[in-house]
Amino acid sequence: MKNILVTGGAGFIGSNFIRYILSHESSVHVFNLDVLTYAGSLENLKDLPDPERHHFIQGDICQYDLVNKVMMDNRIDTVVHFAAESHVDRSIHNPGQFIQTNIVGTFNLLEAARQYWMAGQNIGPVRFHHVSTDEVFGALKPDDPPFSEKTPYAPRSPYSASKASSDHLVHAYFHTYGLPVTLSNCTNNYGPYQFPEKLIPLMILNALEEKPLPVYGDGLQVRDWLYVEDHCEAIHLVLQKGITGETYAIGGNNQPPNIEIIRTICSILDELSPLADHRSHSTLIQTVTDRPGHDRRYAMDISHIHDELGWAPRKTLESGLLETVKWYLEHSEWVEAVRKQKDFTSWINKNYAQR
Ligand code: NAD
Ligand code: TYD
Repeated sequence: MKNILVTGGAGFIGSNFIRYILSHESSVHVFNLDVLTYAGSLENLKDLPDPERHHFIQGDICQYDLVNKVMMDNRIDTVVHFAAESHVDRSIHNPGQFIQTNIVGTFNLLEAARQYWMAGQNIGPVRFHHVSTDEVFGALKPDDPPFSEKTPYAPRSPYSASKASSDHLVHAYFHTYGLPVTLSNCTNNYGPYQFPEKLIPLMILNALEEKPLPVYGDGLQVRDWLYVEDHCEAIHLVLQKGITGETYAIGGNNQPPNIEIIRTICSILDELSPLADHRSHSTLIQTVTDRPGHDRRYAMDISHIHDELGWAPRKTLESGLLETVKWYLEHSEWVEAVRKQKDFTSWINKNYAQR
C-alpha cells in the first residue's frame, strides 16, 4: 500500500480514516477525491498528522475521465470508497441524488479501476475496498438474531437500496472481471467531525442551544453504535489482511434504544455544561412524527472479522459518548463553520417542520 485513493475523504468517516491511516502508515500517500457536498468540508482535514502526505482533489466520482486520470497520475494501488449520500431522511426527500452518487458513482469508480488495472499501469498488490452499511439487510424484529455476512439483502429506504445496489455492483466486478475487491458493512458510527444532521451530533448541538431534541416516534428504535476510530481500524485491517472477494460485517456490540442514547447525552451535558436554571437537558426532549418506513432495529454479529482478522471494538459506548460530547464542546469553531455551510439550516427547518 503506497498510494491510496480515498473517495469522500472530506466527510465524517473518510476524514477520520485519513487521520487514522496517516498516523498508522508512515509512508502512504493519500489522494482524497471529494466533490464537497453539504456533508464534506475541508474543516474536517485541518489537523492531519503529516499533512504533506495528503493530497486533496475536488471532484465528482461520477466523472469517469477525472477518476481515471487521478488513478493513473498517482499510480493508485488501493481504493477506499466512502463517497456517498449518507442520510436516510434526505433520501426520503430527494432520492435522485442517492441513485446518482451511490449507484452511478460507484459503478463509475469500479469501471475506472477495472480499466486502469487491466491496462497494467500498476505494479504490486491492488485493492478496491467498498465501505457499506448494515442497513442493506433491512430491519430486525426484537427476537431476530443479528445481521451477519450471510443475511440476505432487504433494503427498505432509498438510501439503503442505493447502497445495496452499489454492493451488488462491487460483487459483480469481483465475480465477472476478477477485480480485487473487499467490502465491509458497518453499523451506525459516531464520534468527532460528524455532520449535525445525524442523531448524536444533532442532539448534542440542539441541547447546547436549548433547542428541542426531536425523538422520532416512540424512540425505541435500536441501532448498533460504533465509535468511528474503531471502524477506521477495522478497515485498515481489512486492507492489510482481508481476503479478496470477502465481505466483513462490522459493528459496535452496543445496542441501546435511541431514547437511552439521548438521555445519556443529556446527563453528560448536565455535568459538563449545565443549564442556567439547573433543569436537566432531558426536559428538551420532544416526540415528533416518526420517519416513514423507519427501520426498527439493527444489530451486527462480528464473529467473522473477529475470528479471521482479530478485530473487536475498543471503545465502550459510555466512554465514546463522553469523548464525543467533549469534542463538540471543545470545537466551537468547527461547529460554527459547519452550521454556516450551504443548506444546513434550511434542511433542518424543512425536515422538522414536516414532523
Ligand atoms: P458523509 O455524508 O459524512 O460524507 C460523504 C462524503 O462524500 C462527503 O465529504 C461528500 O462531499 C462526499 N461526496 C458525496 N458525493 C460525492 C461525489 N459524487 N463525488 C465525490 N465525493 C462525494 O458520510 P459518512 O457518514 O462519512 O459515510 C461514509 C461512507 O460510509 C458512506 O458510503 C456511508 O454509506 C458509509 N457508512 C456510514 C455509516 C455512518 O454511520 N455514518 C455507517 C456505515 C456505513
Ligand atoms: P440517523 O443518525 O439519521 O442514522 P440512521 O437513520 O442511518 O440509523 O438516525 C439514528 C436513529 O435516530 C434512527 O432510528 C432515527 C433516529 N433519529 C431521531 O429520533 N431523531 C432525529 O432527529 C434523528 C436525526 C434521528
